[in-house]
Amino acid sequence: MGNAKLYDNHGRVINYLRLAVTDRCNLRCFYCMPEQGITYLPKKELLTFEEIERLVALMASMGISKVRITGGEPFVRTDLMKLIWKIVTTSGIQDVHLTTNGVLTAPYIDELKALSIASVNLSLDTLDKKRFHEITRRDEFDKVMKTFQNLIRHAIPVKINAVVMDGKNIEDILPLIDLTKNNPVSVRFIEEMPFNGAGNHYPQLQWTYKKILDYIRLHHPTLQKINDPDSSTAYHYAIPGYQGDIGIIAAFSRTFCGSCNRIRLTAKGMLKTCLYDDGVLNIRDLIRSGSSDEEIKDRLLQAFAQRPKDGFEAESNRHNHQPASESMSTIGG
Ligand code: GTP
Ligand code: 5AD
Ligand code: SF4
Repeated sequence: MGNAKLYDNHGRVINYLRLAVTDRCNLRCFYCMPEQGITYLPKKELLTFEEIERLVALMASMGISKVRITGGEPFVRTDLMKLIWKIVTTSGIQDVHLTTNGVLTAPYIDELKALSIASVNLSLDTLDKKRFHEITRRDEFDKVMKTFQNLIRHAIPVKINAVVMDGKNIEDILPLIDLTKNNPVSVRFIEEMPFNGAGNHYPQLQWTYKKILDYIRLHHPTLQKINDPDSSTAYHYAIPGYQGDIGIIAAFSRTFCGSCNRIRLTAKGMLKTCLYDDGVLNIRDLIRSGSSDEEIKDRLLQAFAQRPKDGFEAESNRHNHQPASESMSTIGG
């Protein structure tokens, strides 16, 4: 196990599974959910831990080596740490990462360190308590900052994800960059995608990755391009003398699809071979109708052999042909 290599129909390696463990969230971020929330799945529709563990082991035997736990907010799922321990100890899985909003995370940081979590990506769009409340519609800023500080103190690699929203947090770009001065943190600015449970917020995306970069360059003329890891979603930059670095993620412009190594499993067990598709295989139904590992593996291979070349093709293949307007909470980010 662990040596298998998995390729799609475009010759791209697939080795990264993004695993959504819940569609629920304790925040209501403007870019992710409407204020009133979304209709959550009944519990019986969620994959059980046993089902998840079986699928992760199966995928690891096929070539998946990196797993990222996402949600919704992962810590809203009861006993999350038990599941993470299982995944970390699955043969073939080399590194496990977590994306969290940081509200419930702080008490688990010792344990995350003990199980050698590879990194934690923290969603944080502002360093201003009032704007945090406006964006997330909840008053949890202090808890998130505590999580950030604890992660740094434990020397767990941290990335901050900040979605750039016209008229909402532009004044936060420079303070967030200042965090990289004395902290070994990667701060990533993300183009807003229309996955907010309602549809487009703007007729056209205002803050494209190019505009974000120009803005940062204007204020930090010494900004330098640095190396991007393989299959990275982010373009990386650094300011000389600063401890951390800066990333820009062209999530809406989709400039990095040519090296995409990722698949997604939603909380209800849908396989997504692209963030922009609307689910290509219902694995939960396969499991619950008694399929063997071999049968599931065959169906997965069929799906990987029909992967769209990029997020634009995936979007146009959506069954309802509508522009994507799901909530990121159900997709898993
Ligand atoms: P690393 O493993 O640290 O590179 O993280 P990541 O960028 O894969 O994951 P994270 O959950 O932190 O996501 C950061 C942002 O990138 C979010 O807005 C994601 O939705 C977006 N993103 C992640 N993967 C993809 C992808 O495959 N396609 C697109 N278009 N956006 C993605
Ligand atoms: N557009 C871009 N990024 C988003 N995220 C959530 N919703 C959106 C959106 N509509 C990001 C959050 C989170 C990551 C998994 O996805 O920043 O950290
Ligand atoms: Fe991969 Fe689709 Fe994201 Fe492009 S948009 S990087 S193909 S998941």
